[in-house]
Amino acid sequence: MKPSLLMCPPDHFGLEYEINPWMKLSRQPERHLAQEQWSALYRFLRDDLGLAVELIEAAPGLPDMVFTANAGLVRGREVVLGSFRPPQRRAESPLFEAWFKQRGYSILTLPPDQAFEGEGDALPAGPGEVWAGYLTRSDVRSHALVSRLLDLHLTSLELVDPRFYHLDTCFSPLGDGSLVYFPGAFDDYGRQAIEAGFSDLIAVPEEEAVQFVCNALVAGRHYVQPWGGGRFLRPALEARGFEVHQFDLSEFIKAGGAAKCLVLRLDWPE
Ligand code: ARG
Repeated sequence: MKPSLLMCPPDHFGLEYEINPWMKLSRQPERHLAQEQWSALYRFLRDDLGLAVELIEAAPGLPDMVFTANAGLVRGREVVLGSFRPPQRRAESPLFEAWFKQRGYSILTLPPDQAFEGEGDALPAGPGEVWAGYLTRSDVRSHALVSRLLDLHLTSLELVDPRFYHLDTCFSPLGDGSLVYFPGAFDDYGRQAIEAGFSDLIAVPEEEAVQFVCNALVAGRHYVQPWGGGRFLRPALEARGFEVHQFDLSEFIKAGGAAKCLVLRLDWPE
């Protein structure tokens, strides 16, 4: 099934605070370039891959709203709304809530002291199966509730490297039992759980992981990622029959996000 997605144009994207190690106020994104990069990705997903891409209007004063992956986790007509750890992003939630409400979704919410940053930290790996990251951003206590609310089999993974602060920066299930991941982002126990949970592991080396190549949207046999990964990941994916599509997302990487962070799945992969 082709995924349908939610994106937010970068009309108010910017770097106004530092809430992850990639963000440096001294390294400002270039607005015009960010617009072009986002549009190229959006047009590709919509026109070339033929995906249904819905849009939410950007809001002034919310420079990270472009990263819709953090809006929540959607299953069927239900959405667990993201509950942000950084205060700077909390005002996004009512806007995403209104968007989902208008379209008839049932909104499920978490207690405010249980941070949960949506699909940024919770990645579907098969029907009813999700892997979820915690520590820097999402709170491990949110996992039990998310799993119960959406009736999911959830495996929690601690994120131990601050550069890989959301699970989607270092972990990308391909939907066929394979996984692209950066082992250094997890502790020994997490790595054991991953090894037991996937039949085919594509372990990305650090020099490619820091290019955000694990931050990818997977649609069928298409792997949509930022630039990089030419030495190891690309050949590994092509050997498995994937088509790799690379986009220049430099301006979003300055804010700590890339291809996956810019989209939220509105349906569950089968
Ligand atoms: N600047 C944003 C933040 O720190 C980037 C979010 C990236 N999103 C993601 N799903 N990894 O919240």
